[in-house]
Amino acid sequence: MRPETTGKLYLIGAGPGDPELLTVKAVRVLRECDVILYDRLVSREILKYARSDAERVYVGKHQGEQEITQQAIFELIARHSLAGRTVGRLKGGDPLVFGRGAEEWAVALEHGIEVELIPGISSAIAVPGLAGIPLTFRGVSQSFAVITAHCREGSTEDWSRYANVDTLVVLMGVANRAFLAQSLIAAGRRGDEPAAFIENGSLPGQRIVVSSLAGIAEGRIDVCSPAVLVIGDVVNLLSRLAPGPPVQSAQALEPRP
Ligand SMILES: C[S@@+](CC[C@H](N)C(=O)[O-])C[C@H]1O[C@@H](n2cnc3c(N)ncnc32)[C@H](O)[C@@H]1O
Repeated sequence: MRPETTGKLYLIGAGPGDPELLTVKAVRVLRECDVILYDRLVSREILKYARSDAERVYVGKHQGEQEITQQAIFELIARHSLAGRTVGRLKGGDPLVFGRGAEEWAVALEHGIEVELIPGISSAIAVPGLAGIPLTFRGVSQSFAVITAHCREGSTEDWSRYANVDTLVVLMGVANRAFLAQSLIAAGRRGDEPAAFIENGSLPGQRIVVSSLAGIAEGRIDVCSPAVLVIGDVVNLLSRLAPGPPVQSAQALEPRP
């Protein structure tokens, strides 16, 4: 602890889940931290890289039921850093990809706190890749976009923006999956376009559910969070890059009445 000075905030990406996908720099920096504020999707094994005397604070939020508000997290960062402590803000994937890391960065700067980003491997790219779905592939996909479906049900969003992207990656897309798929089809994406949910990517419980976009729109897909949804013809590469079980496990439900 450095009580005489203002501390420092490290925004640290924890990667998609597999603890070995943490960066070397993240491991080094975790040893420097006096306090670790960690999220729900951070593998607990990663916390072993923190010093034994470091304070470990869980600040995870569940979709729907907020356990701790974002404002409370801002306050924790400010309080610990202004007390001269080095704070490690450990977030799943990369802190700046749908992780509110940039907001925490800005708030810390407003308080005069030094900030350093330690990027992480984002689930948006690594989870499909590990499953055998590359986001780009010569002749199949020349572009991709990463979007979130969180809080979008009933929104007046212009979905046509996503109609012409070759590969669409959706984070936080489990709960609103049917609405999302219906909206994308209405905006011009093909109903027979292949799609895959990758649940618990990079972790022992990884499961892949392959469908068509129409199958998702009709509520025929059973999937649990966390999962990355990939939509596009690159999904067909699964059979070439990761053939056979245990990688593929499709589970389709009967259409909802
Ligand atoms: C709040 S966002 C944070 C994304 C994170 N910053 C990143 O770069 O991966 C959480 C979403 O990431 C995706 N996700 C994170 N880890 C995952 C994993 N191991 N397997 C599948 N999806 C994952 C899910 O869509 C989940 O709902």
